[in-house]
Amino acid sequence: MIHTIITHIRRFKLPLRLVALMLLAVTSWFLVVSCSSLQAGQGGGNLAPDVIADYIYRIIKSERTVYGKYVVQRLKDENVLRASEHWQQDKSLPLPAQMFRMSSELASENSPFSYGAISPWSLNQNNQPKTEFEKKAMDSILLTGLPFKDYQTKDGKRYYSALYPDKAISAACIDCHNQHPVHKQRYPDKVFKVGDVIGGILINLPLDQ
Ligand code: HEC
Repeated sequence: MIHTIITHIRRFKLPLRLVALMLLAVTSWFLVVSCSSLQAGQGGGNLAPDVIADYIYRIIKSERTVYGKYVVQRLKDENVLRASEHWQQDKSLPLPAQMFRMSSELASENSPFSYGAISPWSLNQNNQPKTEFEKKAMDSILLTGLPFKDYQTKDGKRYYSALYPDKAISAACIDCHNQHPVHKQRYPDKVFKVGDVIGGILINLPLDQ
């Protein structure tokens, strides 16, 4: 075998030094590739975008619950301070939905990353489903009650996006939404019941650097 290789090298008159260099290059490449795949397997691996979206959703949900339960509900129960949509004028606490929107605006400042709440029956006009993905995902979560995830291109940039159903977990959700003057004016026929999907929590992970 070695003899045949040497005969071939001689036949094509390849300088032995060049052959040695080529062999060295190939071996180093194999070493680099095998080491990096080993590293990936041992903890340096990349997370799939749907796993990242799920983790971000967990943070969003827990922050919202903590604010609602330990700040808004507690201060209301102790008759200290209430939450109101016009919190600046009323010197009250922002509603959980407003707290959520303000945090999401801050988080997406100067960054293509974004998250937020959307609904086809939105109280805030900015929260309507806009892109192809958002409309398709909203139809899907209203039908199945399950999250919807996919890749999308928005304003020329690629994203992995996920929409999680936001359900009316208590009577407070539906009382406020159904009774809201904007809701009554824009969607008079839509009456939410406890357990209904009111809208969705949207997460957009930018894929381009
Ligand atoms: C006291 C009133 C009130 C309560 C209670 C309330 N919301 Fe809202 N919700 C709002 C307002 C006001 C907005 C618009 C906030 C904004 O973006 O400025 C909103 C926004 C939303 C949105 C985004 C779409 C939209 O309407 O603009 C979703 C989804 C939503 N709420 C779901 C819920 C759920 C689920 C609950 C119960 C866990 C709930 N809300 C409880 C007042 C309320």
